[in-house]
Amino acid sequence: MAKAASIPERCQTGIQGLDDVLGGGLIKDRLYLIDGDPGSGKTTLATQFLREGARRGERCLYITLSETEEELMAGAASHGWTLDGVDIVELVAEAHDLGAESQVTMYHPSEVELHETTRRVLEAVERINPGRVVFDSLSELRLLAQSSLRYRRQILALKQFFIGRHCTVLLLDDKTGQGSDLQLHSIAHGVITLEQLAPVYGGARRRLRVMKFRGTDYRGGYHDFTIRPEGLIVFPRLVAAEHHEPFVPSVLASGVAALDDLLGGGPARGTSTLLMGPAGSGKSTLAIQYAAAAAARGERAVVFAFDESLATLEARSSAIGIPVATLRRDGKLTVQQVDPAEMSPGEFAFLVRRAVEVEHARVMVIDSLNGYIN
Ligand SMILES: Nc1ncnc2c1ncn2[C@@H]1O[C@H](COP(=O)(O)OP(=O)(O)O)[C@@H](O)[C@H]1O
Ligand SMILES: [Mg+2]
Repeated sequence: MAKAASIPERCQTGIQGLDDVLGGGLIKDRLYLIDGDPGSGKTTLATQFLREGARRGERCLYITLSETEEELMAGAASHGWTLDGVDIVELVAEAHDLGAESQVTMYHPSEVELHETTRRVLEAVERINPGRVVFDSLSELRLLAQSSLRYRRQILALKQFFIGRHCTVLLLDDKTGQGSDLQLHSIAHGVITLEQLAPVYGGARRRLRVMKFRGTDYRGGYHDFTIRPEGLIVFPRLVAAEHHEPFVPSVLASGVAALDDLLGGGPARGTSTLLMGPAGSGKSTLAIQYAAAAAARGERAVVFAFDESLATLEARSSAIGIPVATLRRDGKLTVQQVDPAEMSPGEFAFLVRRAVEVEHARVMVIDSLNGYIN
C-alpha cells in the first residue's frame, strides 16, 4: 500500500513575507544556508528567526564566530529587541586566547583550532538541546579549514550531527569563499540568497531569492525587501494569476455628467485606464475627480502621488472645488506620497495590494506612471 506523504511541519521565520515566499515557513528539522554579502541582512534575519522560536517557547541557540555576544546584543538593541530566551555561544577569539600562552585563536587558523571550534559547537548543542540553531558564520569555519576538502568534510559532519536532533539550522555565509559555494548549496536542504544593490540614484535596494528548497514548492524569483527598525520586511513578488476575484461588472462615474455621457457611464470596473497628455493638460485633476467622486459615494479611493506634494495637491484641488482635504479628513480618500528613489517596485506593489485587500480601495490612482517607472 502506498504510504501517504505526510505534510512536513513548518517552522515560521518570524518574517511574514518570507514565510509567504516559502509557502508557510521553513520545513522543520532541516539545515538551511543563508548567504549574502556582508551587510545584506543575514544576522538580522537569523535574529528574527531565533526570536520567533523563543516566542514560541522553543530553545534557541546562536553560535557566533564573527561577532561578539556584545555586538550581537547591540545589533538587536538597535531594533529594540532583546535576545531573552536565546542562548548565545561566542566562539570569537577571546582576549586571553591572544596572549603569549595560547596561540590557538580564531586568528591563527590551524587544525587544532578547527577541531576545538567544532567540539565547542557540538558540546553547546548537546548541552542546550535547541530546536533552532543559527551558525554565524561559515566564513570563519572556511578560514580555519584552509582546504575546501576539509571544509566540506566539516560541513557534512555538522549536517550529520544535526540530522535526527530535531533542530532547524540556519548556516550563514558571507560568500567570501571561492568556488565552494555550490558544494555548500548541494549539502543544505534549502538556500536563501540575500542581495544588496546600489542603484545609480536613490537608496540601496535589497532583494532575496530562494535558490533551493527541497521537498516543497515556493515562490521563485526575486523578492524585494527592506531592513527597518522592526527588522526585515519581505515583499513577496505579486503573481497576477493568484488574484482573480469574481465581481459584478459596473462602470465608474466621474460625477461630471458630460464626461460620463461621453464614456457611456464611465470606465468599466476591474480595468485600468491610462490618462495621457502633455504637462498641464489636466491628467491629475481628472484622476482626482474620479477618486473624489468615488469617495463622496462612500467607496474607498487611494491616490499614490509620485510627482506632487500633498499640500500642492490639496490646494490645487480645493481651488477647483474638489474637497480633497475634507475627504481625507473623513477617511474616505487616502493620498499616499511615494518617493520612487526610496522605494523598490516590490514594496510599491505591496502597498497597492494592501490598499485593495486590506483597505478595500475601489478606485486607485497612480500619478504618474512616469514617476512609477522611474
Ligand atoms: N536598527 C536598524 N534599522 C534599520 N536598518 C538597520 C538597523 N540595523 C542594521 N540595519 C541595516 O542592516 C544591515 C546589517 O544587516 P546584518 O544583518 O548585520 O548583515 P549581515 O549579517 O548580512 O552582514 C546594515 O547594513 C543596515 O543597513
Ligand atoms: Mg552578520
